[in-house]
Amino acid sequence: MKITVIGTGYVGLVTGTCLAEVGNDVLCLDMDANKIEGLRQGRLPIYEPGLDEMVARNVKAGRLHFTTDLEAAAHFGTIQFIAVGTPPGEDGSADVSYVAAAARNIGRYMNDYKVVVDKSTVPVGTADMVRGVITEELAKRQVSTPFSVVSNPEFLKEGAAIEDFMRPGRIVIGCDNQQAELNMRALYAPFQRHHDRLFVMDIRSAELTKYAANAMLATRISFMNELANLAELVGADIEQVRKGIGSDPRIGYDFLYAGAGYGGSCFPKDVKALIKTAADKAGMQLKVLHAVEEANAQQKHVLGNKVKKRFGNDLRGKHFALWGLAFKANTDDMRQASSLTLIADLLACGATIAAYDPVAMEEAQSLYPDQAGLMLCGTKEAALRGADALTIVTEWSQFKVPDFAVVRGLLQAPVIFDGRNLFDPSRMRERGFTYVSIGRP
Ligand SMILES: NC(=O)c1ccc[n+]([C@@H]2O[C@H](COP(=O)([O-])OP(=O)(O)OC[C@H]3O[C@@H](n4cnc5c(N)ncnc54)[C@H](O)[C@@H]3O)[C@@H](O)[C@H]2O)c1
Repeated sequence: MKITVIGTGYVGLVTGTCLAEVGNDVLCLDMDANKIEGLRQGRLPIYEPGLDEMVARNVKAGRLHFTTDLEAAAHFGTIQFIAVGTPPGEDGSADVSYVAAAARNIGRYMNDYKVVVDKSTVPVGTADMVRGVITEELAKRQVSTPFSVVSNPEFLKEGAAIEDFMRPGRIVIGCDNQQAELNMRALYAPFQRHHDRLFVMDIRSAELTKYAANAMLATRISFMNELANLAELVGADIEQVRKGIGSDPRIGYDFLYAGAGYGGSCFPKDVKALIKTAADKAGMQLKVLHAVEEANAQQKHVLGNKVKKRFGNDLRGKHFALWGLAFKANTDDMRQASSLTLIADLLACGATIAAYDPVAMEEAQSLYPDQAGLMLCGTKEAALRGADALTIVTEWSQFKVPDFAVVRGLLQAPVIFDGRNLFDPSRMRERGFTYVSIGRP
């Protein structure tokens, strides 16, 4: 099949590459000329495990191409994936202007049947908007080229994106046209050879499904974080509680960890956007999600508050090591990361910070080009040197089994604030550390 993917970010690049991997002919379009130039030279704009080899393999095989040429992109694919960003607008609603611009370009240049697929996370009703924009452009050209609009939300996780795309748990297709459904079924057939994972539904339900999934996951996190805070106050251990409730199959163990709050490019903006959709389109207040957001906003300060509880509100002269800048492990994405809140909290109290992340250093450098008080370090050991305590924000594997003798030797004092509960508190006591984690004694 010939496929155009519009937007070569986390979702677009993974989608395009995985579709090429199974034999399709894929053209990836981006309006960012630097990104496209880099991709043509084999430089990826993002870190995603395994993606660079897969891109190189498919480029070499002649199945994966990159362009900034809008007209060529609109002509190329029978299937046109829209995978552009939908960032939060000022009022919290999803900004769909990039989606509209992508649709407009398709309408401006298409000259045969297209299946236009919304892969970006978009509010209910966006497919109607996309259809309207393309119809408008076709009318301007006085042509009536046929097209269908499909909603196909993406559920991949950064850090495991290739695995998620190649072996999806489910593929949701919102569709009201038989031809388009046949195209989508054929496209996804190679990704579900084991058993059918495709759910075809009406377009609005598909659009809402993506928000419902992320809102549910965010709810689990905020719920566990609140319980962790309660556990601390009443002398319980959230890890024991997690095991106790996770064993119930109706609850399950996944996504039940307490921590320093959720971040990333999806949960915060999608929770906000769903709240806004409900308020604007249905006059409805989503009370649970308001609470989820509020709890998360507070939780992002949890490490900073624990540091202040120990060292006081005036942190001038204090110096902290920080391990983990990415919003989660196996990505370089720092959008809405809890590390940003901790850095702001510590700097505001006069502390200095030495930070390290296995892959997000370039991202950190561009976010903090000249931040007074913040030093970006090349190794996790370098960050420790002379610090009054170590703070841990991201659950990278390489942080899980450090050489504790080295850690103790490099720190000024053996104190660790762990926002991801990586270590066993009693073992840490034996190792001679003052160990402060989330929701545990
Ligand atoms: N990142 C994730 O883990 C994830 C997972 C599932 C769904 N999503 C959703 O997928 C969408 C994309 O997310 P992302 O993280 O890949 O975004 P991103 O910001 O990494 O990439 C978006 C890309 O689109 C390009 N772009 C914007 N407008 C364009 C246009 N008109 N024409 C061509 N290119 C254009 C930008 O230059 C950028 O490269 C969002 O709606 C997001 O919510 C993201």
